[in-house]
Order: sequence, then C-alpha cells, then structure tokens
Amino acid sequence: MTTKKKLIAGNWKMNGGVAANDALVRAVIAGMKDAACTVAVCVPAPYLSQLQVLRHGSSLELGAQDVSKHEQGAYTGEVSALMLKDFGVRYVIVGHSERRQYHGEGDQLVADKAKAALAHGITPIVCVGETLAEREAGRTEEVVKRQLAAVIHTNGHCISEIVVAYEPVWAIGTGRTATPEQAQQVHARLRAQLQAATPHADRVHILYGGSMNAANAATLLAQPDIDGGLIGGASLKAPDFLQIISAAR
Ligand code: PGA
Repeated sequence: MTTKKKLIAGNWKMNGGVAANDALVRAVIAGMKDAACTVAVCVPAPYLSQLQVLRHGSSLELGAQDVSKHEQGAYTGEVSALMLKDFGVRYVIVGHSERRQYHGEGDQLVADKAKAALAHGITPIVCVGETLAEREAGRTEEVVKRQLAAVIHTNGHCISEIVVAYEPVWAIGTGRTATPEQAQQVHARLRAQLQAATPHADRVHILYGGSMNAANAATLLAQPDIDGGLIGGASLKAPDFLQIISAAR
C-alpha cells in the first residue's frame, strides 16, 4: 500500500473548443480548491497556450496527449517535448491505445516517446492494456508486461519517474469498467514488474483508466495499487470530473 498523493488526469482526447475549454477549466479550478490529489488535464496541442493562461495561479497541472520521439527537425505534424515544455506541460500521455490502434504505434516507439519526455523533465503517462480478445484468451498479464517491459528496457533507472496507466481497451469509452478486483490484480503485477527494475517502484503512480466515472471512482481508487485515474469522457463534464477528484484521497 502506498501513501502518496493520488493523481487524477483528464484525457480530453480530440474534444474541446476555445469557449468550451474556458468554461470547463474555470469550473474545474473553482471546484478543486480543496483537492487532496494532484489534478491534471491532457489537452489537444492547439489549446496548450490557452490552458497555460487559464491555469495560471491555480494548482491545475497541464498535460499533452502525445509527443514526438525526435528532438526537432523535418518531422511534419509532430510536436517535440521541448515545445511542450515551453507551455508549462508537466505530463504527456504516450502509447494510448487509440494511438497504438489507429496510428500503428508499437512498444518501441512508445518507449522512445517516454524517453524524449523524460529527457526534458516531462512525466510520461505510459498507457498499457489488453484488448477484449486478449483478455478472453487469458493473455492480459502477458500483454501489459510486454508493453511495460519495452519502456523499462529503454529508460533504465529513469523508470521510477514515469506514470503508468492501466487501460483495458475493452473498458475505454464503453461504459464497461474493470471491476476493482480485476484492475487491482493487473496493477499489482505492474507494480511487481517495476519493483524488479527499480528500488523506487512505490513512488510510481499506476493509474486506472477506462470508463472511470463519478459512481465507480471511489471503489477503484480504494484499491491498494490504484494511485489515481486517467479519465476520458467524464473529464469533459466539470461536475463529474470534480466528483472523481473528491473521491481521490
Ligand atoms: P474513458 O477514456 O474514461 O472515456 O473510458 C479513458 C481513456 O481513454 O484515457
């Protein structure tokens, strides 16, 4: 059991707009004043500058949803870790299943992106998770182990600086959440894998993601190895996101 402050990170995905962001972020900041956890929002890159202004003077942390493995140069469409740093970004999601699935990102690319983030002092939120077919074939642990192993191998002793998010693909955006026991079982495996790689594994936040909402957050967050949440849909509605934040203590 770890006693560190929990981390609740919103993943807006490809949602938002200048006016909507303004209302959402103002409501979140006003409502999270007494939060016992760290709160971040991972927003589409074009809105980083808007968020940098909106969050000014608050404890809301800023995150991005992807980063290039390259430092700079002829990589049209890519965004570097240094660019994210310019906007005060503290976290970046890497290896989200939507990027693995729709953009063909493999384990090594994800590990390289985590490395690029760490090199510039940005904490990568490394997503791992099995598909429904993999779970039904009894391959859950093998799959998440392989995904995390690549990141450990590439990042060596820096591994204690990452955040891991366990996101079963079948639970993302489906309203079908892993049970607290299912999630805890995988989180404990991931923790053990980290322990074999670093003496500081207890420091690593392992988040659960996949249809976490105001109703199920408290029981998920009560599990010994669930150190927070990566929240998609529910992070777009201030009251829902705030309820999850208040459940994280
Ligand atoms: P969801 O998404 O909360 O909408 O299921 C989580 C995620 O994909 O990070």
